[in-house]
Amino acid sequence: MPKSRPLLRGVSIIGVGMSKFGAFPEKNSRDLFVEAFKDMTGSVDKGLDPAVIESFYLGNFSSDLFEHQGHTAPLLLDAVGLTPIPATRVENACASGATALRQGVMAIASGLYDVVLVGGAEKMTDLPTADVTDTLATAADVPFEISAGFTFPGFYAAMATAYMAKFGMKPEHLMNVAIKNHDNGALNPNAQFGTTIQKWMEGRIASAIKKGKPAPNWTSIWDFLHDGYANPIVAWPLRLFDCSPITDGASALLLVAEERAREFTDIPIHIIGSAQASDTALHNRLDLTSLPAAKLASSQAYGMAGISASDVRIAEVHDCFTIAEVIASEDIGFFAPGEGFKAAEDGMTARLGGKPINTSGGLKSKGHPVGASGVAQVFELWKQMRNEAGERQVPGDVPLAMTHNVGATGSTCVVHIFERRE
Ligand code: COA
Repeated sequence: MPKSRPLLRGVSIIGVGMSKFGAFPEKNSRDLFVEAFKDMTGSVDKGLDPAVIESFYLGNFSSDLFEHQGHTAPLLLDAVGLTPIPATRVENACASGATALRQGVMAIASGLYDVVLVGGAEKMTDLPTADVTDTLATAADVPFEISAGFTFPGFYAAMATAYMAKFGMKPEHLMNVAIKNHDNGALNPNAQFGTTIQKWMEGRIASAIKKGKPAPNWTSIWDFLHDGYANPIVAWPLRLFDCSPITDGASALLLVAEERAREFTDIPIHIIGSAQASDTALHNRLDLTSLPAAKLASSQAYGMAGISASDVRIAEVHDCFTIAEVIASEDIGFFAPGEGFKAAEDGMTARLGGKPINTSGGLKSKGHPVGASGVAQVFELWKQMRNEAGERQVPGDVPLAMTHNVGATGSTCVVHIFERRE
């Protein structure tokens, strides 16, 4: 088992950027990455000469199938004018972004480079939903799981069912996660679904009235979320609003050796924990109510950082489905097993709660362009830790925060811990 050793050289983040997330028929992943890169360069407080960047790691799951374009890293690098530095694409399914970040961290910690660009990009909406589902399914154990009829909503539905049976959760509890993440996403200008479920419901009623159709008789969002037309079941117990959407988007971070961080900003964010773990595919696991790789990566990241879960102020976790957020909140140690859904119900994980989770809106509301998601999680923490998150800023200081990024059903999990030091 790997030890939780500290980095041999400190690594800091000095700039972040992202494109808007959503469906952009006129843009490819290159266009989106150029937007994220420009946003990142604009975020470097003391200005950035891109010529100082020495290497590039890109998180991208499947440009091959989504865009019929392989070998994506040098193309994206060229689009931002940075050839001939090394460009490396990193693929670890939905954890590609955080895995790319970890490669960047290791490249600087080893002494090989001082300044590294980390990006994430995915262009998913060119394909019809059935083909997106097939493409995503390649991240599973295809001969054993996909040939048996599983899809990703199906996997997470199986996990939700097991969790309900073990801990007494009801499908309604998962709705609390969707409501909370849409509330947060409504405050995020980059979110795909930048609207609360309340507003979404009111929009549907207004649209029906405008078209001269009978107005739906929803008296609250609970009626709306229980309506089989407004919120159909995708894979029981998961409904439409339990799923992250299909998204186009890109994100970027600039890492530097800690001793050089203040050349670029007076408020760097330091990476003090970085861990990654792997696991057998879901069909081989005895318990579906927790991801062992997430627990292991979290405990190793805490060990490396010399902190525990109680020290962490906020987290961005991998809520590809609402049940995934509940399980993540337990795997990272915020709550005991079986308590995560109650914490969501009690408002503990809300923006103003004791342990805010997914203040960005999470994958659920912000969107989930798979290769970009792990890097975009860090974008949110950077904003929150520097008190720059605008309307969605959590109250008080955020000295410590963490990301949790999962590939597939937890065959990969990558956890990072971030610190703001005065
Ligand atoms: N949550 C809420 N609303 C959603 C949504 C989501 N995740 N996805 C789509 N919608 C809305 C659309 O905005 C649209 O609303 P409108 O009629 O008011 O315009 C409506 O639902 C239909 O959209 P459409 O794009 O046709 O949906 P779809 O049925 O093709 O796809 C899912 C819906 C849930 C199947 C798709 O988003 C999905 O597969 N998500 C999971 C992605 C995934 O597995 N990611 C990897 C995780 S490991």
